[in-house]
Amino acid sequence: MMFPKNCWYVAATTSEVRPGSVLARTICELPMAIFRAEDGAIGVLLDRCPHRLFPLSEGRIEGSGLRCAYHGLVFETDGKCSEIPSQPEIPTNAYATAYPVREAHGLVWVWPGDKTLADQTPLPGFETGEGYLAGLDFSCLDPSDMWGVAGPNVIHLNAGYMLAVDNLMDLTHTAFVHADTFDNAGILGSERTVKAVGQNRLIDFFAFKNTMSAPLRTGYMLDQSVPLFDNFLETYWQAPGVMILVHGAVPEGGDREADGAIVLNTNILTPATRTTSHYFWAQSVYKNRGEGKVCDLWDVMTKAAFAEDEETLDKQQANLDRFGTTTLDGDVALVLKADKAIVLARRIVNRMVKEEASIGSI
Ligand code: FES
Ligand SMILES: [Fe+2]
Repeated sequence: MMFPKNCWYVAATTSEVRPGSVLARTICELPMAIFRAEDGAIGVLLDRCPHRLFPLSEGRIEGSGLRCAYHGLVFETDGKCSEIPSQPEIPTNAYATAYPVREAHGLVWVWPGDKTLADQTPLPGFETGEGYLAGLDFSCLDPSDMWGVAGPNVIHLNAGYMLAVDNLMDLTHTAFVHADTFDNAGILGSERTVKAVGQNRLIDFFAFKNTMSAPLRTGYMLDQSVPLFDNFLETYWQAPGVMILVHGAVPEGGDREADGAIVLNTNILTPATRTTSHYFWAQSVYKNRGEGKVCDLWDVMTKAAFAEDEETLDKQQANLDRFGTTTLDGDVALVLKADKAIVLARRIVNRMVKEEASIGSI
């Protein structure tokens, strides 16, 4: 399993690329220098000066461009060289490789593949609906009367991005990996439906009854005296690594919109190398019950749970490496019913990789 390149990937959060800053980050095995000029424009350049191949990420922002730290050439956000200190004329081949970039809802997206396809491809996002489903276009990442937001944060995993996608597409792991945090044992007996939407999207629904631990109730700011909750977990996935998980709990038989505690959890995976990835995540609390912010306990609990996932994924990748396994698609992996969404997702991503290979773009 490799990665498709003709798609938008999150490269950084807005807060990581403040005006005047340069960030070095590898996306799809391409070392990139991500910078924001003084006027706020963002540029993403291959991290290699066309002059003597010095890393551009070592440079500094000056006005609208990035000045290479070696001989001082300046490159604009579109990659064109605008100044050569040692000579007045600028050769026509003096440009750095630039990648299409977009910014929305606090995320910076980059297109590492065939540039001509970028303009015609909208940024990822899901079809919205009524109530809390209005946030599925990533508007849930903008703090508002509707959403209290924590994040986005970034974790750098020593694990391939599809291992992290697998992790989120089979939430039965929460009963084990997160036994001390989410305490979600009820999920093992859940009703599960996986629905394909178009060519490259899936929605994975879990519904289960749960007694819920006291910390989880507190985290959700729910009434401690209610004995049983209807829990729902809905994963909206877009290939290859874009997900919003809708987590919710409502006192048994209650109405989700009126009484539900609902959190939209953005999870976006970007391949760095074959065995490492960038994991962007955020929590958006739906303010249907009047709460304005992510309560501290929920935030602490979620951060602890994500650290548990990180440790699990790093160990899984290390074991794949130890056994020289490059893929989980083949005969080595035992496939269970709970893997249904994973199998479908990997089939879609594999198809995208094959299609790109057949048109010679990767
Ligand atoms: S290597 Fe960048 S200016 Fe010479
Ligand atoms: Fe997890």
